[in-house]
Amino acid sequence: MKIGIVGLGYVGLPLAVAFAEGGHEVVGLDADSRKVESIERGESYVEDIPDAALAPLAGRLRPTQRHADLAACDAVIICVPTPLTGSREPDLTYLIDAATGLAGVLRAGQLVVLESTTYPGTTRERLAPILEESGLSAGTDFHLAFSPERIDPGRTDYTVRTTPKLVGGLTEACSRRARELYELICDEVVVLSRPEAAELAKLLENIFRSVNIAFVNELAQLCDRLGIDVWEVIDAAATKPFGFMRFDPGPGMGGHCLPIDPFYLAFKAREHDFYPEFIELAGKMNQAQPGFCVDRIERALNDVGKPVNGSKILIIGMSYKAGVGDTRESPALKIAALLQELGADLSYHDPHVPELGDMGLASVDLDAALTDCDAVAIITAHPSVDYKDVVARAPLVVDFRGVTRGIKAENLIRL
Ligand SMILES: NC(=O)c1ccc[n+]([C@@H]2O[C@H](COP(=O)([O-])OP(=O)(O)OC[C@H]3O[C@@H](n4cnc5c(N)ncnc54)[C@H](O)[C@@H]3O)[C@@H](O)[C@H]2O)c1
Repeated sequence: MKIGIVGLGYVGLPLAVAFAEGGHEVVGLDADSRKVESIERGESYVEDIPDAALAPLAGRLRPTQRHADLAACDAVIICVPTPLTGSREPDLTYLIDAATGLAGVLRAGQLVVLESTTYPGTTRERLAPILEESGLSAGTDFHLAFSPERIDPGRTDYTVRTTPKLVGGLTEACSRRARELYELICDEVVVLSRPEAAELAKLLENIFRSVNIAFVNELAQLCDRLGIDVWEVIDAAATKPFGFMRFDPGPGMGGHCLPIDPFYLAFKAREHDFYPEFIELAGKMNQAQPGFCVDRIERALNDVGKPVNGSKILIIGMSYKAGVGDTRESPALKIAALLQELGADLSYHDPHVPELGDMGLASVDLDAALTDCDAVAIITAHPSVDYKDVVARAPLVVDFRGVTRGIKAENLIRL
């Protein structure tokens, strides 16, 4: 088959590679010329895809910036960003641009699938009308479906092949075409009755995490007041073999999904005069968590007679999760900005984030920085860092990830 992928980012590139590895011809369209040129050179910018994985696919995975190249594809999958506007409302401009470009070259008989996370109704109410500007009818002249992406960057135990894929088509024939497409690269495809159910299933998965993380972060704040070790409590509860699912507290939520997706559903709910309180409360709680972390660092410094103002604070881990370099919505950025506002002399170490242009910072050598700082804040626990050594050498360590569990030291404070 010939498959077009629109948007070669964290979602689109691994998908393009999976189809190309399966022997299919893939056209990858991206609006960013640097990404297209990088793939042309055989250089990956997504951690989960090493350059070595691209090399054997050179003839089968063709990056492009021309919409016309999508015309010959049997199926086109859209994987563009779905962020929020400044006022925290769904920003569908990337999706509208991608759909408008595709409408100009759409052919009868093609299958179009949207993978970007979005609110229920987007495929039918927003995407279909734009594609129909081609003069073709969705569900009859071309097939249209929604299939949420479930990739978890950095994860190796579940892959594109072994993670069940949800699909919801506009018609039964649309669902069938979408199922056949994903059966080429996935072991299990689950067909839903309509796109809206698939759109909402993805939001449920992410909001479930957001609500539980907010709850456990609140528990961590309470434990701080009570003087109880939250990690000990969670470890204990997690020994129950049924009826409990573990979530760990941390510095707040980051990435392209969890901090953003709940707002997509809240927006849709408001259109129906419905105010989803769990979602709003979880969002509020998670957004406040970086502020709580700054307060904790401030108290830790105060206890050793130092103000934040003028103190040398080293942050370990700037990306939003361990093992990846993605800094989108990272709570570490918020914590860093708040500490700078308070006058901290801030530096950071992150093997995955060489520099932070906006903040005028670059990752420092950990060895040297550990002994030349007043406090270390562990925000993202990259596996390559030796945390025992960090506690042994830094004057004061505040751990927001629980990676120092099992270590007892006077200079160590854990969330
Ligand atoms: N990153 C994840 O872990 C993840 C997981 C599940 C779902 N999602 C969802 O998948 C979607 C894509 O996320 P991502 O992380 O891959 O984003 P990304 O920013 O890494 O990649 C998106 C790509 O689309 C390109 N693009 C933007 N507009 C375009 C256009 N009009 N035409 C062609 N290319 C265009 C961008 O240049 C970029 O390369 C989002 O809706 C996101 O919520 C992401």
